[in-house]
Amino acid sequence: MIALGGSVLKEADQRQEWLDLMVKGLLERARKIPMALVIGGGELARQAISLARVGTSDSDLLDEIGIGGTRLNALIFSTWLKNDRIEVSSTIPHSIEKAATLIQKNRIVVMGGTYPGHTTDAVAIRLASLIHARRCIIATNVSHVYNEDPRENNDAQPIEALSHTELRQICGDPGQHVPGGQGVVDAVGAAAAAEAGLELRILDGRDHTRLLNALDGQDFEGTLVTEG
Ligand code: UTP
Repeated sequence: MIALGGSVLKEADQRQEWLDLMVKGLLERARKIPMALVIGGGELARQAISLARVGTSDSDLLDEIGIGGTRLNALIFSTWLKNDRIEVSSTIPHSIEKAATLIQKNRIVVMGGTYPGHTTDAVAIRLASLIHARRCIIATNVSHVYNEDPRENNDAQPIEALSHTELRQICGDPGQHVPGGQGVVDAVGAAAAAEAGLELRILDGRDHTRLLNALDGQDFEGTLVTEG
């Protein structure tokens, strides 16, 4: 299970080598074990939400706009994965239950968001739990989870290992979801991972080696979240 933040796709058109190596690495691994990818909306979703905010403050409607962005990015990513040897689902499922069904018939399933109130991190974590994924990777655009927001505090320290309880403290209150809000991991997802006792590997997905190493269960640069 991989949650690939939309920010990781940013400027992929200028990072052809990253894309080629990432696609090749994912396809090689999907031959051995089926894979689910949940793609975030990144800038596309954020800009669409901010445009929609001009005319509405309805949080559910704004979330639906964001979900549209995630599904468009998922469609783009699944197009990149299309090949002659490995079955990639041609449907972008709208629920984790549908994704769980599709993964029985395909080697790779790609999806975006599901319903309002969380981000694609939470979707990936719930899907990982539903399909009993061997590994759950959260690929974002920072190297680690930090003890404080590194954009606001230059002294913020990267953390290599965390318990679910510590991650939840850093991510905040799951009731405080803001459409298009930013945070290394969604608080709803952090709570779901804690409840499921699901290990998370959080890393910078712009480096394909870190992501593929983590997927293989090797040492990786990033944050490992365990039951502690
Ligand atoms: P993302 O999953 O892309 O947010 O959802 P993110 O993880 O913060 O951003 P990136 O992609 O890693 O940069 C974007 C927005 O879409 C809505 C929320 O408003 C979220 O902030 N969304 C997404 C939902 O409401 N439900 C979903 O299942 C997914």
